[in-house]
Amino acid sequence: MGFRMRYLDLKRKICSVRMLAIQGIAEAGSGHPGASFSAAELMGVLYFRKMNHSPKKPDWSERDYFINSKGHSAPGFFATLAIAGYFPPTEMKTLRKLGSRLQGHPVRYTQKETHQSVPGTEFSGGSEGIGLSVSIGIALANRLDGKKNRVYTLIGDGESNEGQIWEAAMAAAKFKLHNLVAILDRNRIQQDGFTEDIMPLDPTRDKWSAFNWNVIEIGGHNVEQIIDALNKASEAKDSPTIIIANTVKGNGIKHMTNNPQWHGKAPPREHTPLLLEELRSECLIAPSIIAGQQENYEEKIRSAERGGADIIHLDIMDGRFVPNTTFYSDTIKQLRHITTLPFDAHLMIENPLAHIQDYIDARCDIVSVHAETCSESEFAQITDRLLSNGISPGIALNPSTDLPNWLFPHLQDVDVVLIMSVNPGFAGQKFIPEVLSKIRLINQKLREHGFLGYIEADGGIDATMLQAVYEAGARIFVAGNAVYGSGDIHGAIIQLRYKVNVALERKLLEQANSIGIRRDWLKTRKHILIPLANELGIEEELHALK
Ligand code: DX5
Ligand code: ZN
Repeated sequence: MGFRMRYLDLKRKICSVRMLAIQGIAEAGSGHPGASFSAAELMGVLYFRKMNHSPKKPDWSERDYFINSKGHSAPGFFATLAIAGYFPPTEMKTLRKLGSRLQGHPVRYTQKETHQSVPGTEFSGGSEGIGLSVSIGIALANRLDGKKNRVYTLIGDGESNEGQIWEAAMAAAKFKLHNLVAILDRNRIQQDGFTEDIMPLDPTRDKWSAFNWNVIEIGGHNVEQIIDALNKASEAKDSPTIIIANTVKGNGIKHMTNNPQWHGKAPPREHTPLLLEELRSECLIAPSIIAGQQENYEEKIRSAERGGADIIHLDIMDGRFVPNTTFYSDTIKQLRHITTLPFDAHLMIENPLAHIQDYIDARCDIVSVHAETCSESEFAQITDRLLSNGISPGIALNPSTDLPNWLFPHLQDVDVVLIMSVNPGFAGQKFIPEVLSKIRLINQKLREHGFLGYIEADGGIDATMLQAVYEAGARIFVAGNAVYGSGDIHGAIIQLRYKVNVALERKLLEQANSIGIRRDWLKTRKHILIPLANELGIEEELHALK
């Protein structure tokens, strides 16, 4: 694939996959949202970041192979192929329709079958338990031909009830197929219930190691862990690798999450706008490690990761642009190996163009420079350098700085607009209230100009401010003192996420109101809303629901 897709773009694409899949399923009135969503990051990282493949040349002889053995995840799989460029995304509206080539389960693509199969589909899935065996054949043939192509196979944990899976597991180890990577979508739910109730698979790890596979276990919705695991699998020498990806069925839509009911059920079509709003509203919590007493950045990063943070916010201060000095790229280099969590570098330094390579070499995932410290041409050079290294570019604005006009021609290259809600230089300051309307106006203006990136709010963010900042349009929340000044990092992050949830549910309820489906939405969403009912003021209403 050559270029390294940048972190926030990867997140955005995977979000588009979920949105396309749920639109297709709702339109069709049938399909499998559960598995389409549990495997979304797994398929997304493979097609958008890891695999060697070419949508323009689906039969390219050097391509890596993706065998989707859990065929019922077809809506998610098709949406991934569409977003990757194998066919127009608009065709997803024909999912499961008579005459459509997007049916309930994929059909292997061949030139002869173009009316009923889409390019990029290597295997006709549906009856489960077969894909791994087919993958062994492809991996063996490639090796016999001296080819470097790799084979990636997605299997399910319900599917692992099939004896053929274990025959194949033995054979792959026997043939030492290092060019084969199986990925287990371990969402712990199958057609009619929880896997451990129906046919216990645990201890899953021990089973696969006992079959002489190289075993890697990860969080299956964590793109950086998936990338890391796939890279490690590429280093395996003489055994196949299984990546046990702990996933959540229906992940992305709260009332479908970990709920067997949504294995193979479609949401009502009229719910679609609310589901799309929910998917679009994914938020990232970013602890700022300069906050709090102790300077042990390593421990702070570890505790943030344990506490459930999404990204790590790194404040670089040079003592000139701001009246404080913190650390530079050399410190970041030392911290990089501690976690796979993305590094969000906030450069409060003069002349950032002169130093940008240092932050590229330090392997940051997001780098924001201040609009007050560079000209348009310097900013353009900075974004070019970052983009060509697969790093998400951002622009930061001090509280009194408005969006520079020169930014608009560069918007498609910007993934983050960071709006300071305190004067830069120190953690632990109070949120400047006037910044709230600024966030709202800037978000509006940017969306009008087609901006697809994230608004990041930075400074004085805590549980009391979060809902308002969310409603203003921010989706990345930096939290320094609120996390490291709390004495309970995990608790603090949970509380920030709780506030995000309340703000999201309030927005969805307003939207349900505006399209006249409030009662039906309350019914569908009841088990999600009960814990928030008090804060949303809907206790009686929920209680009255029969
Ligand atoms: C301030 C920094 C912020 C700050 C956030 O210049 O850019 O990231 O550390 O800390 P709190 O959340 O405590 O304001
Ligand atoms: Zn910052």
